[in-house]
Amino acid sequence: MNTHRSVLILGSRGRLGAALVHTFATTGWTVHAQMRRPLDTPPDANVRPVLIPMTEPARIAAAATGARVIVHALNPAYTRWEQEAMLLMQQAIEIALRLNARLIFAGNVYEFGADLPEVLNERTPFAANTSKARIRIALDQALQDARSRGLRSLVLRAGDFFGSGRGSWFDLAIVKDLARGTLLYPGPTDRAHAWAYLPDLARAFERMADRESALPDFARYHFAGHTLTGQMLLDSIETAMKPERPYRRKQLPWGLIGAVGRIYRPWAALHEMAYLWQRPHRLDGQALRDVIGIEPHTPVDQAIGDTLHRLGFAGSVPADTARAGGAA
Ligand SMILES: NC(=O)c1ccc[n+]([C@@H]2O[C@H](COP(=O)([O-])OP(=O)(O)OC[C@H]3O[C@@H](n4cnc5c(N)ncnc54)[C@H](OP(=O)(O)O)[C@@H]3O)[C@@H](O)[C@H]2O)c1
Repeated sequence: MNTHRSVLILGSRGRLGAALVHTFATTGWTVHAQMRRPLDTPPDANVRPVLIPMTEPARIAAAATGARVIVHALNPAYTRWEQEAMLLMQQAIEIALRLNARLIFAGNVYEFGADLPEVLNERTPFAANTSKARIRIALDQALQDARSRGLRSLVLRAGDFFGSGRGSWFDLAIVKDLARGTLLYPGPTDRAHAWAYLPDLARAFERMADRESALPDFARYHFAGHTLTGQMLLDSIETAMKPERPYRRKQLPWGLIGAVGRIYRPWAALHEMAYLWQRPHRLDGQALRDVIGIEPHTPVDQAIGDTLHRLGFAGSVPADTARAGGAA
């Protein structure tokens, strides 16, 4: 067990970052919450905002003295990964080395490339056949290379986020037109897709942070989260919303997105990831369970209802559930 219980969260205003700040703070950790813009609401008592940009790693390290664990929850804008992702990783590594702290990075499934197999475990090979895969593989390599400088790091990989904050597939596409009676799914509805309910994932990070001293100097773990076909996800949304008649179900117009992507970069970046909705995939969480025991797992209907409630839809959610992970 980690006796220091002091953590630095890089990117505290983000989807994962905000969920992490909430979870670590409510489980008794001192939380140094790095952000480049101030919070909109006052933080919890044991949260210390670190309002310093990543370009000043020495100042961030000084402000977070005592932190034994750092979670890298930064994420450049989708069209700026090429320019910013490696820089942010190098800055995170420098902070970790200065603090002699364990660095935990939030991995995703991009490293496995466009032909990813159905079951993804820690031995599944990476495939650098998309631009995003190449960037993420380089970030993973940077963590490994920094071992020679004394870095201890972990990667906790998860599927698509939902349940805290905005700007994910769930709110930007799937329930975007819910008020108009339409659900928009990005692929055929019979393919399994890996999702991570953020309050559960944040708890997994906390448990891993608590046990990090017993783990290897570098290791990767997979958070299984919720594996859902489009059918399962859309049915669960309908269960929570209880519409008088079923919602219309439409597919995202990938052809149009590809065409617009030829002149509009954000849609080109989106289009490159279309394969994730075509290829069934799930993350095998056995290695993580070996470390933290039972993986935190909110039942799917509760997680979906809770997410819709936080997005402002009148779902059938018990009040205590809605409060449980309200971090964003
Ligand atoms: N989203 C997903 O579905 C998903 C799934 C699996 C893994 N992941 C991984 O989890 C991590 C966090 O993702 P997220 O979706 O939680 O990110 P996010 O919501 O987009 O938040 C990213 C945070 O990074 C900050 N940031 C971006 N560029 C920065 C820069 N140049 N300097 C300083 N701060 C910067 C942002 O600050 P501001 O608030 O000031 O803009 C924001 O708070 C990423 O590594 C991502 O790849 C994401």
